[in-house]
Amino acid sequence: MLPDPKSENLLFTINRLDEQLLTYFNDVLVVNNQLDRTLVSFQANKTEAFYRWYKYKEAFSSRLVKFLLQDYQVRKGIVFDPFAGIGTTLFAASELGYDTEGIELLPIGIKLIENKIYGVNKAQNFEISRLKYWQKDQPWKQSKGLDNLTFLKITKGAYTKETEIQIRQYLYTIKRESEVVQKILLTALLSILESVSFTRKDGQYLRWDYRSGRQIKSRAFDKGKIYNFEEAITIKLEEIINDLQGDEKQLSLFNDNLIKSGNVKLYQGSCLNILPKIESNQYTAMITSPPYCNRYDYTRTYALELALLGVDEEKLRQLRQELLSCTVENKEKALLEINNDWEKAIKICDNTQLLQTILRYLSYQKEIKKLNNNGILRMVKGYFYEMSCVIQESFRILKDDGFLFMVNDNVRYAGASISIDLILSKIAENLGFMIEKILVLPNGKGNSSQQMGTHGRKPLRKCVYVWRKK
Ligand SMILES: C[S@@+](CC[C@H](N)C(=O)[O-])C[C@H]1O[C@@H](n2cnc3c(N)ncnc32)[C@H](O)[C@@H]1O
Repeated sequence: MLPDPKSENLLFTINRLDEQLLTYFNDVLVVNNQLDRTLVSFQANKTEAFYRWYKYKEAFSSRLVKFLLQDYQVRKGIVFDPFAGIGTTLFAASELGYDTEGIELLPIGIKLIENKIYGVNKAQNFEISRLKYWQKDQPWKQSKGLDNLTFLKITKGAYTKETEIQIRQYLYTIKRESEVVQKILLTALLSILESVSFTRKDGQYLRWDYRSGRQIKSRAFDKGKIYNFEEAITIKLEEIINDLQGDEKQLSLFNDNLIKSGNVKLYQGSCLNILPKIESNQYTAMITSPPYCNRYDYTRTYALELALLGVDEEKLRQLRQELLSCTVENKEKALLEINNDWEKAIKICDNTQLLQTILRYLSYQKEIKKLNNNGILRMVKGYFYEMSCVIQESFRILKDDGFLFMVNDNVRYAGASISIDLILSKIAENLGFMIEKILVLPNGKGNSSQQMGTHGRKPLRKCVYVWRKK
């Protein structure tokens, strides 16, 4: 196919502006060999007591949080995360003695964080003995009562009939236990749903195993072992009991020089609504990872858990729209109606040349029908404008000298590499931050196979940004 001159011109300008920004940040962009992919993803949590229970694929590791706090000698005070997920920043920083606060939108993250604060962290010998009883005697199996289980269109048929019944019996039976034990048992259940279902989380959506009997459009998918309920819950409860007992032992051995854990507080809802209500100059550091601009739809991939927590179709749609724009379904948010102080953040985006050229390019690709989804343009625009508002608020609520650490990935659409790291850093600088470092992970990764085929592979940077309020 002949290259289209207008596309070529715009791509050329994007590359030139990108090079310019790269040169501008040359001194702060450093490859950091201590940061490997395991540390900056959920991987390293797989062997960490407590953090290994629920596999939140989009989480980073507790070791990363501890590494950043220690390496940058962050002063004691409150550490904040506006995209708290399942609370890795909150709990890892709390273990080091920092008080922590965070915001999370999705009920799955909210529930796991609350269950940890008010359940797991309060467990003593008595609660551990109740968990052992549940693991050994499996009391739900004798239950005649069944709790309700909400199903969404996208989760219908996710379990075998037997599994569904056991989930409902389990939910019914845990109500007999104390609140602390209930919370831990619910966390255990949430942590096994994927493994006992016909589905697999796959970024943008749930993939269905061929055994589900659902009509499958593409090639048959085999997710491997599908656990039966008793087996999965027994293994999970054992892991939980081991971690709780290990913790008890450590407490008695090291009681004298133990660091007192900091308090953890969570705000529920969208950070776009909550941040403007938070007082200025409060936090000594923020460690966060917003959704990436990669079309991942958390409301679909976590639909099993959301349905179990009672989210219905209407609420699901609402949550999807409240997410920071990161899916092709997100509609434009009326940012100035949320907070008219954000005129500043918006103006900065309007004047960021590289961003505007990328948007012009995507808009043209949409016009000539070369964008594989028309929602991509709106998503990319929404992503930067909303993030700019989040950055403006972050600057305001941080104390002087406070750090903002952010994990994020660059992306590529329609052949245009989008340097999220450089563009967000430039926006942050214009909002007052000093860009201390952009720590680059040793290996860039390509994008989807589709993109590689059409446009050739160019590694995309994955980075941890280190910004400072000076
Ligand atoms: C990359 S994950 C963060 C994971 C977290 N670092 C952890 O280790 O668990 C991004 C999180 O942002 C949340 N999120 C998305 N839009 C949000 C919004 N508008 N307000 C608050 N949280 C939001 C998502 O639900 C998701 O949990």
